Amino acid sequence: MKIRKIMVIGAGQMGAGIAQVCAQAGYDVLLYDLHEEKTKKALHRIDQNLARNVEKQRMDEQEKEAARKKITQAHSLQDASAVDMVIEAVVEKMNVKRDIFAQLDEITQDHTILASNTSSLPITEIAAATDRPERVIGMHFMNPVPVMKLVEIIRGLATEDEVYKKVEDVTKTIGKMPVEVNDFPGFVSNRILMPMINEAIYTLYEGVATKEAIDEVMKLGMNHPMGPIQLADFIGLDTCLSIMEILHEGFGDDKYRPCPLLRKYVKAGWVGKKAGRGFYTYE
Ligand code: CAA
Ligand code: NAD
Repeated sequence: MKIRKIMVIGAGQMGAGIAQVCAQAGYDVLLYDLHEEKTKKALHRIDQNLARNVEKQRMDEQEKEAARKKITQAHSLQDASAVDMVIEAVVEKMNVKRDIFAQLDEITQDHTILASNTSSLPITEIAAATDRPERVIGMHFMNPVPVMKLVEIIRGLATEDEVYKKVEDVTKTIGKMPVEVNDFPGFVSNRILMPMINEAIYTLYEGVATKEAIDEVMKLGMNHPMGPIQLADFIGLDTCLSIMEILHEGFGDDKYRPCPLLRKYVKAGWVGKKAGRGFYTYE
């Protein structure tokens, strides 16, 4: 069966971007969040991004309207009964994701594919919360979704080839580049990126340099588009901490120990750009 209707669960930074690129590619999209105001905010951000696309002549007014009309706000998880594919993008917590996948298993039709945008959690363990592990898969987008080309695709132990192929097709249809990786903590992207970010935070914690200096070194010295402290704020410090904890627990090696300063900021609620304050402050 062809994928036509996609439900995105979680309307935060990632969910909003995923809904936007799916709608731009012509899929019917349902966008759901536990908190309605998050969905409203996400729709506003999508409107702004689409308007920017018109301004930059990447699409015309008609295409903008067509894309926007493709996105509908969902008010309940039950709405997943009408879709061919779900992409989950809620907080990076195993218990929350397993709970959602168990519910989706009950709600959705047999053919529906259940994908998770998890940054680091084992797909096999998420899939085990369902009675259809063969239809569960990892689809790891990068932030900001409308800009970044990569989608890591992760098979769980039981994922069927047909499901992999369909997710690969969706990835290409939305103009992204699929890369297949195995189901290990942090996959490839965050196994490499997040220890660098954590080390940058240790560098700040130990007083080696200011946050500005650390970011300048990596931007001007290594040509990174953002310094690692700025990038941590951009990703979300809560997400960074969750990923480091998953790497630490998954590999059992202290080289992945989250920096105490990162924990302190998360405990303070200073979780980065999305909260208006992280290592830097935002308007
Ligand atoms: N949504 C949509 N478009 C966005 C955007 C957003 N949130 N942020 C930036 N853009 C667009 C801008 O509109 C702009 O496009 P146009 O001017 O053509 O309209 C373009 O991106 C460039 O933006 P700016 O000129 O404002 O700024 P920039 O040149 O510094 O680029 C950036 C911004 C693309 C975010 C760049 O700084 C960058 O690549 N940063 C690193 C991003 C990165 O590493 N992402 C991966 C994070 S890790 C991850 O995602 C995995 C995980 O699990 C944690
Ligand atoms: P976010 O904090 O911006 O958004 C999470 C959203 O999930 C919130 O709007 C919250 O209200 C909603 N939510 C929480 N529990 C829910 C539930 N039970 N049902 C429905 N909605 C619920 O986080 P984000 O940055 O968008 O990250 C979301 C996921 O994407 C995480 O798994 C994260 O690891 C992954 N991810 C993040 C990035 C990044 O750079 N931030 C990149 C790739 C993948």
